Amino acid sequence: MSQEHFDTLSSMKAEIESASIQTAEELETFRIRYLGTKNILKPLFAKIREIDAADKSRYGQEINALRGLAEEQYQRLQSSLQSEEDNQPHGLDLTAPGRPTRLGSRHPVSLVMGRIIDVFERLGFAVAEEREIEDDWHNFTAMNTPEDHPARDMQDTFYLKADANRLLRTHTSSVQARVMTTSKPPIRIIAPGRVYRNETVSARSHCQFHQVEGLYIDEGVSFADMKQTLLHFAREMYGPETKIRLRPSYFPFTEPSAEMDVYWGLESETDYRITKGTGWLEIMGCGMVDPEVLKNCNIDPEKYTGFAFGMGIERQAMLKYGISDIRWLFENDIRFLQQFESAM
Ligand code: PHE
Repeated sequence: MSQEHFDTLSSMKAEIESASIQTAEELETFRIRYLGTKNILKPLFAKIREIDAADKSRYGQEINALRGLAEEQYQRLQSSLQSEEDNQPHGLDLTAPGRPTRLGSRHPVSLVMGRIIDVFERLGFAVAEEREIEDDWHNFTAMNTPEDHPARDMQDTFYLKADANRLLRTHTSSVQARVMTTSKPPIRIIAPGRVYRNETVSARSHCQFHQVEGLYIDEGVSFADMKQTLLHFAREMYGPETKIRLRPSYFPFTEPSAEMDVYWGLESETDYRITKGTGWLEIMGCGMVDPEVLKNCNIDPEKYTGFAFGMGIERQAMLKYGISDIRWLFENDIRFLQQFESAM
């Protein structure tokens, strides 16, 4: 009778289809049972001799299909075991203490910049960020810097090869022009950002650095307002007893112009060295916005006055952290960066 042999094939088929495994050992058991050298399908192949002649070829096809099924099922079980293993690490001890995650620290330039922004935000200054690739007008012309001014010299300014009118901004004062031409007074902004100058890189100067610009324009803004604002800033930044002084200076875009020093002290040899024996340290340029600049930006100089200031960040970071070479601030050497705490 052929029928019972066909029944054996069907039950074997059901068995293979419903096979499930949890472990690599069970997978191996499956392999040995259905695909190994002494697998249980082998004797079924031999049974073909007992099949009626008319059914022989159907039996042959079914037993071959069964073998194919066993192979497919083996592949399937193997890959599902693999993906489970990938998702579930073995020997995971959920009670073990966690591995500490190494926290990064903020860059000293970011720390100082953040602190400066903080102080001015509390005074009501809004942060204005602008492009680093500027046009000549916003960087120089609007800022009352005449065509033949040495600051425009190729020696100092990086111009773009593709467009002689475009340059890498040499100061954040370009943001003053951007803001004054697009908004109406009262204006009270600070502009932090990167600036570029074509200077030889050394321990004391770099071709890229950061500045924070400030601009305050309204009716009746006076030099006294500027002085008080900057004194407040210096005391927030360098301590409540900090003394400042303003020295007359020159910038094309401010009139009168000044440089602001903070009193650093003259106690140690280092104090002597960094203050060049004066005890005072220059930290920024400032002044009353030149009426020409207001005019260039369509602000009525009869009605409005204002003050502006601009300070370098690297220099203040170097002072604060005792960093003696500005280049370290741009190398991103992890051994250097790790030394700065994340809060000032
Ligand atoms: N832009 C000047 C500089 O780069 C600084 C400055 C800003 C001076 C605003 C006065 C007013 O040195």
